[in-house]
Amino acid sequence: MSEGLFPGLNDWQPTEFLSRLGGAGYTGEVIKEAPSPLRTPYTPTARQAALALVSDSTTPFAIATRLFHLGDAVPLQNAMDLLGWTIRDLIDLGLVESNEGSVQATVQISPQGDEWIATDFPHKQTESEADWVMGVGPSTRQLNHLMPPLEQPHILEAGCGIGWVARQRIRSGATAVATDINPRALALARLNDRLNNVHGITYAEGDFFEAAAEYAPFDVIVANPPYILSPGGDRTYCETSDGQTLCKSVVSRVAHYLKPGGYAIVLLNWSHETDDDWAAEPMRWLGDAPVQGWLHQTECSTPEQYAWQWVHSDPRFMDSVSVAAEYRRWLTFYREHAIQRISLGCYFIRRPLVGEPSWRRTDARQLRGFSPAAGQDLETVMRNETWLRQTEPDSDTLLDTCYSPAQGVSAEVKMVLREGWHRAVIDLQSPGQLAYGGQIDETVLRLFDLFAQGKPARELVSTLQAKVSDKAQSSVEKEVAELVRNAMAYGLVTP
Ligand SMILES: C[S@@+](CC[C@H](N)C(=O)[O-])C[C@H]1O[C@@H](n2cnc3c(N)ncnc32)[C@H](O)[C@@H]1O
Repeated sequence: MSEGLFPGLNDWQPTEFLSRLGGAGYTGEVIKEAPSPLRTPYTPTARQAALALVSDSTTPFAIATRLFHLGDAVPLQNAMDLLGWTIRDLIDLGLVESNEGSVQATVQISPQGDEWIATDFPHKQTESEADWVMGVGPSTRQLNHLMPPLEQPHILEAGCGIGWVARQRIRSGATAVATDINPRALALARLNDRLNNVHGITYAEGDFFEAAAEYAPFDVIVANPPYILSPGGDRTYCETSDGQTLCKSVVSRVAHYLKPGGYAIVLLNWSHETDDDWAAEPMRWLGDAPVQGWLHQTECSTPEQYAWQWVHSDPRFMDSVSVAAEYRRWLTFYREHAIQRISLGCYFIRRPLVGEPSWRRTDARQLRGFSPAAGQDLETVMRNETWLRQTEPDSDTLLDTCYSPAQGVSAEVKMVLREGWHRAVIDLQSPGQLAYGGQIDETVLRLFDLFAQGKPARELVSTLQAKVSDKAQSSVEKEVAELVRNAMAYGLVTP
């Protein structure tokens, strides 16, 4: 299959090609520091601006950028000066096309950090909608950050696109399978493996899970399925023809392919009718399956906000008439389907070990972004929630058990100035910024201090009781026990 799109890929040695690009200064560091349009030429306007910045230069950097970052046609002689005879290999592979004295790349090959990312040029979305392949987006990175830190896990990236998450993981010792229904995505994924000298990912073309059935069960499955709730379109990477996302199909089937104790992480968008009923529909997708399910809502938009966010940045609708018509089409669809709200979030699903309970949990919190330790948060929350449900600890147990603050929990005291006065605010963050991020009071800080010293919460109860009346003694116990329970539920401490 990859041989069809890039014939000869398996025998290609890209070392000289890449070292010529690096020698031209076409590196992750230089691109990262480049002016905005060059760094992110994702919209037609940004691409035009980027081309204007480099088009009258024939430096090796300008030629490399025009060819491989912006998809511009450059004179063959300039390309030869940059690439020497490696250009012949690129033409044979189908990575570059030559036409009447000029050459043009067929796919984007850009340096990002210390790796190469090969994907479709953003502006090509207007020409080849159906099988256009996305590169590494914020959601791709989120998915990677959410991976629980297991030792040498067997993972599946379901709907892998260019397989970036699988590649990150195989480098750190995982075995990885990656599926996609779009053969072009898999061909690009293999090209990325070649460019980055990564071996060992097993690719399978077809449905998210069925294509991977022979390699199941998995320790971790990650999926960022076509997520846009649109009125229907044919862009395989982000939508379906009837406008339904594939999130329900993925969520309802994924647990079947997990090992006991295995985790699934699914990014999703879904619709609902009011601000309050946001959890009902995704909860139904799991039904009464014997799994542990944690739904985390991270954003909620009105149809108007949601539609505009997608339509105004869509390179296919850049003039005022077509953008307005498309916007109306989206709003009509939402009206016809009684969609009043659209939420974004993540579903974390774990298959219980023998003897562990199934449970459901929902949280809603706008996230400022996950840190690379988000997977650690996820694992701690799932484990703690299971412990709380399994042991159903009473107040005495909670107060007399010793806990450790989760590694990397940080508290920061900020001074807030208001009307000439200043007020101290304590901001607490879980290590991965997934499980908790918000203000706490001093009592919680003191609780953490006790835990850090290896002491139980009971000591805080005694200190606080000394300051209140006899009548209030028992409520202090209850309140501190509740603080401990919440600290556990939010993954901030472990027993
Ligand atoms: C939003 S992209 C995510 C790509 C990549 N995992 C990432 O996070 O960057 C969704 C991917 O799912 C693939 N896809 C769509 N429908 C699919 C299906 N029924 N089975 C398997 N993959 C599918 C698309 O081709 C696309 O590559």
